[in-house]
Amino acid sequence: MRQSLVIANWKMHGDQKANEALVVGLLKLLGRQANRGECVLCPPFPYLAQVHELLGDSGVTLGAQDCSHSESGAYTGEVAAAMLADLGCRWVILGHSERRQYHQESDALVAAKLAAAQRASVVPVLCVGETREQREAGEAEQVVESQLRGALADQADLSRVVVAYEPVWAIGTGLTASPEQAQDMHGHIRGILADLDPEQGDKIRLLYGGSVKADNAAALFAQNDIDGALVGGASLDAEAFAAIVGAA
Ligand code: PGA
Repeated sequence: MRQSLVIANWKMHGDQKANEALVVGLLKLLGRQANRGECVLCPPFPYLAQVHELLGDSGVTLGAQDCSHSESGAYTGEVAAAMLADLGCRWVILGHSERRQYHQESDALVAAKLAAAQRASVVPVLCVGETREQREAGEAEQVVESQLRGALADQADLSRVVVAYEPVWAIGTGLTASPEQAQDMHGHIRGILADLDPEQGDKIRLLYGGSVKADNAAALFAQNDIDGALVGGASLDAEAFAAIVGAA
């Protein structure tokens, strides 16, 4: 049985005052949920320490939105995975479509970042997903397969990885994959993971992301291979995010 996992991707939002109100409000709401699954907040880098402190021993854990492929050195503007671990991060989102699109991140670079995260004992949350054009051209499964194999093929330890399927056309658009569409892709992903590592394939948590909201979360989570969500916009609202965590 895979434990549910809901991850908040705050993207480039927030300031100290808003973060405090959001985290305090969220912890209050989550405190009323019995037997909830795992829950993670990924604020922007400058606020990791602040959010870590606010989370305290609540059981909600901390993640980051990216890391460097390198351990240290002359990489201006980069943040090493070991620095994230040092600040209390247990998770890092990698290969998000916004990084692939705006920073030209290749599968090879995502693979190197993933290895760096694992070396620092930070669990990578590997994002994959097709664009609208790719889906309309019937290429969605093939695109996702090559992203997965490209990032996981070599040295990845599949006992310490989470995969998030985020169709690019559903991110921030209000369009969600239907539960059936999402399950189809998650089943496909599960098959590839089992091929890469027969022992871990069934244990890896697969999250869905792309306009997950309080009112569509339960139907998504009811699918066999959807173990939780990576939530952008709705994670900035304590009530909406707590409702999604509750649905998982
Ligand atoms: P969204 O973003 O929930 O705002 O669509 C999801 C994501 O990009 O991780």
